[in-house]
Amino acid sequence: MELGEGKVAVVTGAGSGIGLALSHAFAAVGCSVVLADVQIDALEKAAHAVGEHGPDTLAVRTDVSSAEQVEELARSTIDRFGAVHAVCNNAGVAGGGDPWLGPIETWEWTMGVNFWGVVHGVRAFLPHLVMSGGGHIVNTASMAGLYPGLAGAYDASKHAVVALTENLYNTVQAAQMPIGVSCLCPGWVRTGIAEAERNWPSEFGDLTPRDAGAQVGWDYLKRAIDEGMPPAAVADLVVDAIGADRYWIFPHPEWVEEIAMERWHRVAEGLDPSPPEEMPGLPPRSQMLAEVMAAMGMTSPGE
Ligand SMILES: NC(=O)c1ccc[n+]([C@@H]2O[C@H](COP(=O)([O-])OP(=O)(O)OC[C@H]3O[C@@H](n4cnc5c(N)ncnc54)[C@H](O)[C@@H]3O)[C@@H](O)[C@H]2O)c1
Repeated sequence: MELGEGKVAVVTGAGSGIGLALSHAFAAVGCSVVLADVQIDALEKAAHAVGEHGPDTLAVRTDVSSAEQVEELARSTIDRFGAVHAVCNNAGVAGGGDPWLGPIETWEWTMGVNFWGVVHGVRAFLPHLVMSGGGHIVNTASMAGLYPGLAGAYDASKHAVVALTENLYNTVQAAQMPIGVSCLCPGWVRTGIAEAERNWPSEFGDLTPRDAGAQVGWDYLKRAIDEGMPPAAVADLVVDAIGADRYWIFPHPEWVEEIAMERWHRVAEGLDPSPPEEMPGLPPRSQMLAEVMAAMGMTSPGE
């Protein structure tokens, strides 16, 4: 689909990182942009900055884990612009506690934003995209949607997004709907995701502090993100993919080859999972494990 003047793009998680970069990129090519985010201060700042490109913007405070709020976002979009052409279901969170020993709210938060947010976005906007004469949906998954090795709840939520997006693609193709679909799977991108707990919902109670071992891994993850790809480069790839009607968007294609394919070879051979020793942006796994054990006051196996 060709983006430009007269087209309307909706971005969730538009207040920061990839969503903010997407909003700038859409506005820069002349699209009107609807920015949605749960964090009101970031949303207002983003809408102001994106508005500087010239085209019209609308900011709608939206918690994507709520079906009602995402439906309201769709209604506000149509009320204001009369149509919608590109929808980026991008809002996402990471962290929130230990998936197996921590509170169940870790899962509820992660799945609520990363998984249900995408489901609500597709369901709320698909009819409007069709009624607008056609459009494009971009769902933000992650390399963690193709390789489960980062964090339990996050990996599961992103695998779900990869699966539902592929099903959506097959469905719109079979039904010959005038809808393009893309699945965005980045590796490390320089955003605020390592501080996602800033939006931990108060109704879930207090966050459980990370223990010393988990903090070691988190600090390395934060460093990898801080050294990651600039979000504007990811946004450019998304704009290209919409223009070319391309399904997969891989900002870090080498991860597919080195991490995901290796895992799938093991699956095909029926081998037990074996996390790679080397992950892009992180120290060797054995070093990280030794540091985690030391932080917990334990000795590494073999010592
Ligand atoms: N940064 C990376 O390395 C990386 C890698 C792979 C995938 N991703 C994915 O990219 C997407 C964007 O994240 P980012 O890295 O730009 O992080 P970010 O924290 O910079 O931006 C995420 C935005 O989502 C918003 N948000 C959080 N909860 C929300 C909710 N309930 N409803 C609406 N908005 C909400 C935040 O306020 C924030 O503005 C996420 O889906 C994330 O999982 C990021």
